[in-house]
Amino acid sequence: MKALGYPAAMALVFGTRSDRIEPFLAMEVMERAFALERGGAKVLHLEIGEPDFPPPPAVNEACAAALAAGDTHYTDSRGLPDLRAAIARDKGERAGVEIDPGRVIVTSGTSPAMLLIFSLLVDPGDEVIVGTPHYPCYPNFVRFCGGEPVFVPTSAEDGYRLDPDAVAAAITPRTRAIVTTSPANPTGAVQPPEVVHALAALGPPLVSDEIYDGLVYDDARVTSALAASDEAFVLDGFSKRYAMTGFRLGYAVVPEPALRPLQILQQNLFISANHFVQIAGLAALEHGADTVREMCDAYGRRRRLLADGLRELGFGLPADPAGAFYVFADARKFGADSRKLAFELLEATHVAVTPGVDFGEAGEGWLRFSCAAAEPVLREALERLGKHLR
Ligand SMILES: Cc1ncc(COP(=O)(O)O)c(C=O)c1O
Repeated sequence: MKALGYPAAMALVFGTRSDRIEPFLAMEVMERAFALERGGAKVLHLEIGEPDFPPPPAVNEACAAALAAGDTHYTDSRGLPDLRAAIARDKGERAGVEIDPGRVIVTSGTSPAMLLIFSLLVDPGDEVIVGTPHYPCYPNFVRFCGGEPVFVPTSAEDGYRLDPDAVAAAITPRTRAIVTTSPANPTGAVQPPEVVHALAALGPPLVSDEIYDGLVYDDARVTSALAASDEAFVLDGFSKRYAMTGFRLGYAVVPEPALRPLQILQQNLFISANHFVQIAGLAALEHGADTVREMCDAYGRRRRLLADGLRELGFGLPADPAGAFYVFADARKFGADSRKLAFELLEATHVAVTPGVDFGEAGEGWLRFSCAAAEPVLREALERLGKHLR
C-alpha cells in the first residue's frame, strides 16, 4: 500500500532539538558499571548523587497508607494545598522569610520544575548565565528551550565564589536569568550572603537551585535567593535532603506573576505530581527532621574520610566542601582527560567516579566522588584507587 506519498523504505526523521543535548556522563559511567556487575565484578559506586539511606520511616508509612486509602488520583496541578502550605512554612523557616503558599508549585522532582521555569523564561536566542563547574543538566535545559548558556567560571582557590562583577560583565540584552546552586553539585560550595544579594541586584532573575539546602557541614549556612529577592525562582525538593530520589518530588517557589503561566505549563506537560507521593512529602516535612540530621551527620563524617583519603593519594583539594555530598578533586596529576581517567579507573579498579568534564570545561581534569556511600565502601574505594595509582 502506498501510504501518503512516503517512499517505501523511508528513514526515520528526527527533529534537531535533541542534537543539542549532551550525554549525562555520571549515568554513562553508572551504565558501564552495571554492565561490569552483570559480568560478576564488585563495583563500588561513587559516581551517582543517590543517597544510600532509606527515607524517614514516616514517609514510607504515609505513602503506603495513602495507596491503601485510594489516594491515587490527579491533584491540583500546583500540588495539594496542605503540602504547598507545609513547603511554604518549611522553606520559609530555612530562608528566614515568609512565603505565601500561593507561590509554591509542586512538581515530580526538581528537574521538571527546572524545565517549566526555563520554558517560561527562555526564547530562542536568549541567554542564561550559569556559574561553572555546574550541574550538567542546566545548559541542556537551556539549549532544549532554544537558548544559549553563558558560563562564568569559578575556581577552587576562592571556594567557587561566583563573582558578581564577572556575572555583571556577562549580562547582555538577551540575558533572561542567572543560575546559582548553593550548596553546589559538584563542588559542595555554599555562596556567601553578600554574593547572593549582589547577584540578585544585577537585574535578571536568579534561578536558584537549593536542592542541597539543609545538607551543610561545620558552620556553613545557606543564604536562599528568597531572602535576597521576591523575583527569584527557587528550586528545591525531597530527593537529596530526605533521600527520596525515586519518589520524584520537588517544587519551585516563584514570583507571584509567574505562577499562572507555570500552572498552565504544568497542566499540559505533567498534569500534577503523584497524589500518594505528595502525601509522603507532607510526612517528610512533618516527621523527617531527625532522620535528616542523622543523614547529614553521616555525610559529614564520610566527607572527612574521603577528603583526607584523596589528599593522601595525591588528589588536589584546596578546601573541604561546605555542603552537599560530593568531593570534587583535582586529578590532573593522574591524567588531563577526566572522561578517559574515570573509565580507566572503573575498568582497572571497579571504582565508579564521575569525570569532572560532566560539569563543564571548567571541571576538566577533576573527578567527582560521591559521599552517598557507606564508610566501609569509601575505605575500600580509597584502597583500590591507592593500589592502582601508586
Ligand atoms: C544540583 C541538582 N539539581 C537538581 C537535581 C535533580 O533533582 P531531582 O531528583 O529533584 O530531579 C540534582 C540531582 O543530582 C542536582 O544535583
